[in-house]
Amino acid sequence: MISIIGAGKVGSASAFNVLRLGISDVVLLDIAEELARGEALDMMQAAPAIEFDGYVKGTSDFSEIGGSEVTVIVAGAGRKPGMTRLDLANVNSRIVKSVVKEVVKFAPESKIMVVTNPVDVMTYVAYKESGFERNRVFGIGNVLDTMRFRSYIAAELNASREDIRALVIGEHGDSMVPLVDYATVSGIPIKTLLRKDQIEKILSLTKTSGSEVIKLKRATTYGPAVVIAITVDAVLRGRNRVMGVSTVLQGEFGLSDISIGVPVILGKNGIERILELELNPQAKKQFGESASIIKDITYKCTRQAQDQTSTRTRSVRASSNFQHTG
Ligand code: 2OP
Repeated sequence: MISIIGAGKVGSASAFNVLRLGISDVVLLDIAEELARGEALDMMQAAPAIEFDGYVKGTSDFSEIGGSEVTVIVAGAGRKPGMTRLDLANVNSRIVKSVVKEVVKFAPESKIMVVTNPVDVMTYVAYKESGFERNRVFGIGNVLDTMRFRSYIAAELNASREDIRALVIGEHGDSMVPLVDYATVSGIPIKTLLRKDQIEKILSLTKTSGSEVIKLKRATTYGPAVVIAITVDAVLRGRNRVMGVSTVLQGEFGLSDISIGVPVILGKNGIERILELELNPQAKKQFGESASIIKDITYKCTRQAQDQTSTRTRSVRASSNFQHTG
């Protein structure tokens, strides 16, 4: 069984993907209990058409997440106009911390999968707050970036998306690093098949296409939802998939005390192994810049939280935006 915390569009769509693909039973939790129950009921009415006798249960009661193999944290605010990444980090870190406290209490054996943005910073916050081993806390932004990268390579080559293998590392955000050197179509490096201007176009679309969706319909839904389902599947079935996942580094890639997207083997224990890569000088520089951006926001966000804790004693339970995600 898994739990998804946050029954907004992404949380609900991922619950349905997990059910539809026959991956797992799901507890869909939101402080807006009616929303969670309504979404679950709607899904269960679709269930007879699915060849899987699983369930989705909607609730606002954290004790229901007990026994979850994976707890997916989707709860959080989306970025609103005029909001900086740091503003978003401050709002969402309070929400993520309050959720993690409940996870530690009711599902202490689970793996925590963070989706809430800014996902690299939130993964670090969840890691610190939970006290879990680092293999059990990870964020999944780069999996989505990689799907976008693969889609645009496929479109430019007029080849099947299925045959494209590629990887994006770094921040799940503007400073992400799509690795052109490691992108292939059925093993053939794309650099040998595409011109420089075509590759530039792919890189630009990879980096901006998430924001384009947000501009058009305020949030992305189907991409994150399917990414949640496939990463949950990797863990539950112990598939040891190789993916770009945000994980806390302790010396790997020359970095420590930061969660950032790097290639990992994802399986039963969460992060089974971090795969260190040789990066060309340009990718190395971009990855370093990406790490600085994440570190800066992580530092400011965790620092502000400490300052607030020492000056205020008010509860940091989830805000009214709890169920929504960007
Ligand atoms: C996305 O990239 C907003 O993280 C979300 O679609």
